[in-house]
Amino acid sequence: MSEKRKEKIILTGDRPTGRLHVGHYVGSLRRRVELQESGEYEKIFIMIADAQALTDNAEDPEKVRQNIVEVALDYLSCGIDPEKTTILIQSQIPALFELTCYYMNLVTVSRLQRNPTVKAELQMRNFETSIPVGFFAYPISQAADITAFDATTVPAGEDQMPMLEQTREIVHKFNSVYGETLVDPDILLPESKACLRLPGIDGKAKMSKSLGNCIYLAEEPDDIQKKVMSMFTDPNHLKVSDPGSLEGNTVFTYLDAFCRDEHFPAFCPDYANLDEMKEHYQRGGLGDVKVKRFLNEVLQAQLKPIREKRHELEKDIPYIYEVLKKGTERANEAAGRTLQRVKDSMRISYFEDAALIREQEEKYRS
Ligand code: TRP
Repeated sequence: MSEKRKEKIILTGDRPTGRLHVGHYVGSLRRRVELQESGEYEKIFIMIADAQALTDNAEDPEKVRQNIVEVALDYLSCGIDPEKTTILIQSQIPALFELTCYYMNLVTVSRLQRNPTVKAELQMRNFETSIPVGFFAYPISQAADITAFDATTVPAGEDQMPMLEQTREIVHKFNSVYGETLVDPDILLPESKACLRLPGIDGKAKMSKSLGNCIYLAEEPDDIQKKVMSMFTDPNHLKVSDPGSLEGNTVFTYLDAFCRDEHFPAFCPDYANLDEMKEHYQRGGLGDVKVKRFLNEVLQAQLKPIREKRHELEKDIPYIYEVLKKGTERANEAAGRTLQRVKDSMRISYFEDAALIREQEEKYRS
């Protein structure tokens, strides 16, 4: 057990409600691949959170069903390697739902009401007066996801911070009531501010399918270009000679997230690095079109290998399901072991507990 605690284990996941976009990429996917290759983690689990997706798509299970393979394709095309990383489907791991049920007793309704992510999502979905219980409780289910795999590390975007806090509270409460059982996880946020929450191409706070402001990972070259050329910049930067502002300038936010020094000699040799380009923009004399053309090249260069790999993988869909099936089997073993530990700690494993039977026997003997 104490040996186990020293292991570094990653658990993270996504809701399968659509294809993944470049916001997912810089916010988490790119990092996952780096972490996978770092060799620092004993185990890495990535969850396709279909059950969580159903908490606000209960009437549209087909959407969730269709997107499981899309998300899996996106993972593999970014470099997630099923030999090193276990990809699993949440709904196929019964232990998660048992854990959720026991954790529910440790969380108050008012605590859930205060969860900022739940609050924001409730508003966005106009649930306000008719909140599905399952949706309301999904932070608890997410705590089950994380703890079931003894995760020490959860690489995720900033929007998942309240979920992690909720999870840690459950861990502390569980451990203090039933004894040391669950592992206390940490969130691993993206390195840079631009990656924390990549805005949509319209400059709106978050890239989202419903707002139609996404660039998808598998986007075709023409569409990438069209989207980049239509991006929101500085609305007061009318003439090339005008000084431009970087504040809320989506094109520069994307460059912060995507561009590396080596992109300059290749695509825009007028500047040595992004700082020089920014300085010129702020000074005046650098037009939006030129910056957008540069961003387009940078994005094209990074998305091309991902798209090509995806098209390769699309030729063998049964293989994708095989990967998911194997991963889910492995995950079931891990989560099953944790569930047993949890039940032992709660003293609700009756049939394996020889001491319990003797104890009850004694009671009636005297
Ligand atoms: N809530 C995450 C999202 O909306 C998905 C998710 C489910 C998750 N379970 C998780 C993320 C556990 C990290 C850890 O994308």
